[in-house]
Amino acid sequence: MQIKISNLSYTYLAKTPNEVEALHNVSLDIPEGKITSIIGHTGSGKSTLIQTLNGLLLPTSGEVRVGEFVVTNKKKKNKRIKELRKSLAIVFQFPEYQLFEETVEKDVAFGLKNYGYKEVEAIKLAHKALEEVGIDKSFYKRSPFELSGGEKRRVAIAGIIALNPDILVLDEPTAGLDPKGSKIILNLINKFNKEGKTIILVTHDMNIVLNYSDFVIVMNDGKVAFEGTPSDLFSGDISTYSIDVPELFKFVKLLESKGIKLDISKIRSIDDLISQLKEKR
Ligand SMILES: Nc1ncnc2c1ncn2[C@@H]1O[C@H](COP(=O)(O)OP(=O)(O)OP(=O)(O)O)[C@@H](O)[C@H]1O
Ligand SMILES: [Mg+2]
Repeated sequence: MQIKISNLSYTYLAKTPNEVEALHNVSLDIPEGKITSIIGHTGSGKSTLIQTLNGLLLPTSGEVRVGEFVVTNKKKKNKRIKELRKSLAIVFQFPEYQLFEETVEKDVAFGLKNYGYKEVEAIKLAHKALEEVGIDKSFYKRSPFELSGGEKRRVAIAGIIALNPDILVLDEPTAGLDPKGSKIILNLINKFNKEGKTIILVTHDMNIVLNYSDFVIVMNDGKVAFEGTPSDLFSGDISTYSIDVPELFKFVKLLESKGIKLDISKIRSIDDLISQLKEKR
């Protein structure tokens, strides 16, 4: 499903003395079947932007099209929003805080029941989703509160993946996790993408942008400051975005400046760098 955002603006507390224009005339195409990262300084509008994608926030003006669905400020046009939320599902930052059922399996089944699945079918699909995120059967009947941070995060992701969305949006999916926990989540994201899902992730981690994303969008004060590939972003002037260049990218640039010709656009990990260096020998 194609995502097309046209002239989207969003104002919080509109027409009050405290109004904040969080998005200003944003137009974007987000590619289907790819991993797109959304980055930018705190308060730049990233979370606001993703919440307009499935109508959790309705645009103040402009529109979002997701496949055949349309999100606008005209109530009548947004009739199929519940359906849209199943196709484009959002995993919020710290989703584990939203776990509340008495067992892991019931928590994952909760969303499915909301979409009309009967208990037995919902539990069956919940088990399938838990298996997909690598949560062992021995956890199914346990309380979600007994799990580690990374396990809780995976259970929360299972609750979303169980709905089988075409598009999976994750707001800072690795925030607060240790490197091992982060790696498990990122591998899962990669797996879902390989299975054909479009992935959109909000992150502050430039290594994730370089290693995992096909495209990157930089938000700055509610506007799109850059859209393109990670290598184009990090090769250009990023001084106004308050972001860092990943160490690997700096190193590759250094090698280039020493006369070692590399295809920088294809280097996303140390393994990519090693294989290009091997080819040169
Ligand atoms: N519920 C709200 N009420 C009023 N203003 C809000 C609300 N939520 C966000 N804002 C304001 O809207 C702007 C954009 O916020 P948003 O949360 O989209 O930024 P963000 O890029 O996700 O930031 P962060 O990196 O800190 O998560 C900020 O100025 C913020 O203060
Ligand atoms: Mg945010």
